[in-house]
Amino acid sequence: MQIAKSIAELRSARRTMLGTVGLVPTMGALHQGHLSLVRAAKKSCDHVIATIFVNPTQFAPNEDLDKYPRTLEADCAQLEREGVDLLFAPAREEMYPAGETTRILVGPVADRLDGASRPGHFTGVATIVAKLFHLAAPHKAFFGQKDAAQVAVLRQMVRDLNFDLELIVEPIVRDPDGLAMSSRNRYLSAEERRQALVLSRALTTAASAYRYGETHAEHLINLINTVLATEKEVRIDYIALVDPDTLLPLAIAAPGALLAIAAHVGTTRLIDNQLL
Ligand code: PAJ
Repeated sequence: MQIAKSIAELRSARRTMLGTVGLVPTMGALHQGHLSLVRAAKKSCDHVIATIFVNPTQFAPNEDLDKYPRTLEADCAQLEREGVDLLFAPAREEMYPAGETTRILVGPVADRLDGASRPGHFTGVATIVAKLFHLAAPHKAFFGQKDAAQVAVLRQMVRDLNFDLELIVEPIVRDPDGLAMSSRNRYLSAEERRQALVLSRALTTAASAYRYGETHAEHLINLINTVLATEKEVRIDYIALVDPDTLLPLAIAAPGALLAIAAHVGTTRLIDNQLL
């Protein structure tokens, strides 16, 4: 696996790639969720470019940019094992050199769900992903359903800016007990990790109620609220039933609707969701 630290190295490696190129953008601290994207890219593309960059512009000043886990050596070993051709792991100054000011404002969809709780977050995400799309020029780019709002924002951006690529979304990878894998799970104590299981439990309960015929958003959300309330230490940020493309609330659930949760467990903010 070749490792490019600079844009120049990435560009020259990209020029040698014949056939289709798949891109897997990440912030590192890799787990099986990330690797599922790499495997999907390997399966359907001739070359795979992975990126690791803890993107400062998507973190608010009060968030965890400084303590975000950085495990580059272990990440490299995992990507190498998966057969990634090229890892792009730039320094902050490479992506945001002094004096840069341009940002991608995606519009209203970027201000919903996590965009409402984390103002400016998706401007940072859209900006870095647009830069990576330009630099890597992939035919396909792979993202996780885990970050459902991120997917909606990036779909809108790809459409609006005419990126000539296919956005592929892979299902949420979970630990055997249901917890959605996340780099931030490393922050959880054993007790907090146990409490965090209530998120997937609440979603499973609501999804099963939906399968038994409950379609009222209000009732599904109340049900999730009730399950989440069984863990007193879990603080709800949002519970929403929305259209997965616009992220606008739905009154009635239908196939394809998105049930999404964000909650704080201790000081860690976790998200999870389920497509109905
Ligand atoms: P990061 O949180 O590292 O996630 C990288 C990719 O892995 C995202 O597409 C995310 O949805 C996916 N992913 C994370 N956990 C997953 C899981 N349990 N199952 C399936 N996929 C999972 O998302 C980001 O980084 C950044 O915002 C980024 C897009 C790289 C821009 O900085």
